[in-house]
Formats: sequence, structure tokens, C-alpha cells
Amino acid sequence: MPDIAGLPLEQISASVARAILEEGVAALQYGDTTGRLKTKQVICGLVADFDIQIVPEDLIITTGAQQALELIGKTFIDRGDVVITEGPSYLGALQAFSAYEPDVHTIPSDENGMDTDLLAEELARLGPRGAKFIYTIPNFNNPSGVTMSLERRMHLLDLARKYDILVIEDDAYGRLRFEEETIPPMRSIDPNILYLGTVSKIFAPGLRTGWIIGPRPILEKIKLVKQGDDLCGSTLNQVIVERYFTEIDWRSTLDATIGRYHERRDALLSALEEYFPAEATWTRPQGGLFVWINLPEHIKTKQLLPFALEKGVTFVPGDGCYPAGTGLGLSSMRVCFSFEEPGKLREAIRRLAAAIDEYLEASKA
Ligand SMILES: Cc1ncc(COP(=O)(O)O)c(C=O)c1O
Repeated sequence: MPDIAGLPLEQISASVARAILEEGVAALQYGDTTGRLKTKQVICGLVADFDIQIVPEDLIITTGAQQALELIGKTFIDRGDVVITEGPSYLGALQAFSAYEPDVHTIPSDENGMDTDLLAEELARLGPRGAKFIYTIPNFNNPSGVTMSLERRMHLLDLARKYDILVIEDDAYGRLRFEEETIPPMRSIDPNILYLGTVSKIFAPGLRTGWIIGPRPILEKIKLVKQGDDLCGSTLNQVIVERYFTEIDWRSTLDATIGRYHERRDALLSALEEYFPAEATWTRPQGGLFVWINLPEHIKTKQLLPFALEKGVTFVPGDGCYPAGTGLGLSSMRVCFSFEEPGKLREAIRRLAAAIDEYLEASKA
């Protein structure tokens, strides 16, 4: 979970109360399937920070980026279609796509994101239009925390053009950078891709407000699917989002949150150095919420989980971040540093290391 304890609740509450009086019952009425015009204008302003120049007709407001993933699955995937993701990838995306029974091909990633040389080999094998789309989380990937380099982004776009394959760029975490320079989103370079965003990590996940930016003919199809899904998203939530990003100093609030994430990442990494087995490796994210840990192969993180829970600590076992049945990620885990204070994170890592010892003892026995 993102840490939203710093939100200015009194200001939000006053602004929402004012909004309801000013908007009248329109704030509580059905709305356009693709979202309110004002909300879209606000999102156009937000993405302009990353040099994505669009007008309201270029996006659809969704019920969180999660709905965007589900709509994309429903719109594009027929049973058996090849879909390409980096490995590991977002569990929720794999779940959303899996309902439509794709054949998910995983391209390994390293500290620079998806390995696009391996992607090139895979696409050469599959041939032109051999996959429905390539799904990637290039900034502070969930679950690995790694960021795709600019060189790889350019390579991916070249390959997508060469093989005529749609790219889905999920940028749920792009603003949460606490180190080094922003790398341009692929959508700022190529208007043909689908770009997903959300207020979940920059304002509040409970508002369930996200968006899809894409070519208009594709948005037309997605709109038809969305009509059948929910008629329209929550009008009131969109009003709250509009007011937050126009009436409140959200940038200062977010900067303070990112500062806390930075401190927490540092605490988590230093605790890993101190307590974890020498053979373990982990990522060093420059932003976002997650660190990905690889343990020696004989440690299976799904079996380790009950030992950790016993000590009051939890994590996501790595195999859930790969398509089912691939046998990948079995000795990996995702840990999250966003939500707890540095002291608690340190203690959590200490207990997790003790849980590993107990698990190894029990395996020997
Ligand atoms: C990569 C990624 N995409 C999408 C989502 C869904 O976000 P939302 O809260 O906007 O539905 C998440 C949530 O954690 C995520 O990690």
C-alpha cells in the first residue's frame, strides 16, 4: 500500500464539500463512459509534465489502472494469443489477462529492465504480428523495482514498429522517483502505444481512478467494452480528483511522501546487507515501492511464507509474478518498503532472516 498518511484531509474535505455544492447533482449523476471532460483535462495537464502532449479525446478515465488492464485483456486477447511481458511482472496484470486465456511469453529483465535483445530474438521467432501486445512497467517495476533504460525503451519501440505489435506502457509508479533523472515515457516518443496511469500512488488508491491514453480508433473499441463493464466510472470520485489536482498543493504533499519512501528504501537495503544470507541478491530501486530479492535455489519462498507469517512479516512469493506453471520465481520474493517506518522495516528484515534460518533447519529435519 502507498503511504497516504500525509494527505491534507481538512483541505480535501473542504474542497469536496464545495465541489458538491458547486456541481450540484451532476456530481452524483451518471457520467460519460470515457470519463468527465474536466477530469480528462486535469490528466492532460498531469502527463504534460512528462512531455506527453494530448487532448481529452486521447484518453479514457478508468476505475483504476486495474480496470484498464481488464479492458485491454477483453478488447485484445483471444484464447491462445501470444502476449509478451517482462519477467517478473505485475500479478494483477497477469490475473486480468488470464481470464482471456493468452499464451504469455516472459522476457527476462535485469537492472535495466526488460532485456530487449532477448525480446528481439523472441519476436524474430514469432514473426510480424506474432504477439497481440507487449506489456511493460518501465518505471520502478512492480514487483522488481527496476527501471528500463532509455536505450532499451528506444530498442523496444523500434522492435514494436518493425513487427507491428502494440505496446502497453503501464506507468503506475513513474512519479515516485527519489534518485537520478526521469527517463522519458515511451508514450512521449511514440503516440501509437497505450499508456496507463493512475492516481493511486500520487493521491489515493481508494478513489479507483486511472486512465488509458492511446490512439483514438483503439479507444473507441475500449469504450464499447467499458460500457458493458460499468456504464461509467464514479462521477464523485472524478470530481474529487479534479479538485485535488487543481485546488490543493499536491506536489508538496507528494514530495514529502517520496522523501519518506527514499528513507525507507535506504533502511530496507541496509537491513538486507546486515541480516540476509550472503548468497541472496536484490534490486536497488531508484523509486517506487518494491525491492525484489533472489534467494538461493534450494529456498522456495512459497514454503518460506508460513515461517515469516509466524513472525508477523509478509511478502509476495515470486512465482505469482510469472505466468502459472512456468516454474519461474520460485526462490524470489517481493518486499515493499512504502508503508512502514524505517525502524519497523529493519525489524521486519531481521525477522525474515530468522524465518529463513528456521525454514532451512526444518528442511534439513
Ligand atoms: C503496475 C501496476 N499497474 C496497475 C496497478 C493497479 O492500480 P490501480 O490502483 O490504479 O488500479 C498496480 C497496482 O498496484 C500496479 O502495480
